[in-house]
Amino acid sequence: MKILVLNGPNLNRLGIREPAIYGSDTLQDIELACVEWGKSVGATVECHQSNREGVLLDWIHEAESSGFGGIVFNAGAYTHTSIALRDAIASIDIPVVEVHLSNTQARERFRHRSHIAAVCVGQIAGLGKEGYRAAITFLAGRG
Ligand code: DQA
Repeated sequence: MKILVLNGPNLNRLGIREPAIYGSDTLQDIELACVEWGKSVGATVECHQSNREGVLLDWIHEAESSGFGGIVFNAGAYTHTSIALRDAIASIDIPVVEVHLSNTQARERFRHRSHIAAVCVGQIAGLGKEGYRAAITFLAGRG
């Protein structure tokens, strides 16, 4: 199975961005780990990051026709604001797992609401990069 790992706004700044909250790994560290975790469960993982909502929308729309069987999605702050991303996920037939490095429920109130949670198969938050591993393992197990 091919799995798409999508990261949204500001996640390109991991490693230097609020390390007490998000850890010291860079996005590249996490993406390399995702590829290895994919291999260990027989999946091919491809990773993309964008700070632009429209680019994320296009990748979601094109995922199934590009051969992906599932998406691991950290939408960053768009999680809490984007009905367009919610509608894009609802429009596709492959499963999407919502991932957050931090425990969004233990943070500011505005992070408690996810617009995408209801259209994802599940949500993992607060496990750091291990959340990506859990999501990849879950999706590979479904394929
Ligand atoms: C985040 C949590 C969001 O609230 C925040 O805006 C992010 C990162 C996380 O991975 O913990 O950019 O998605």
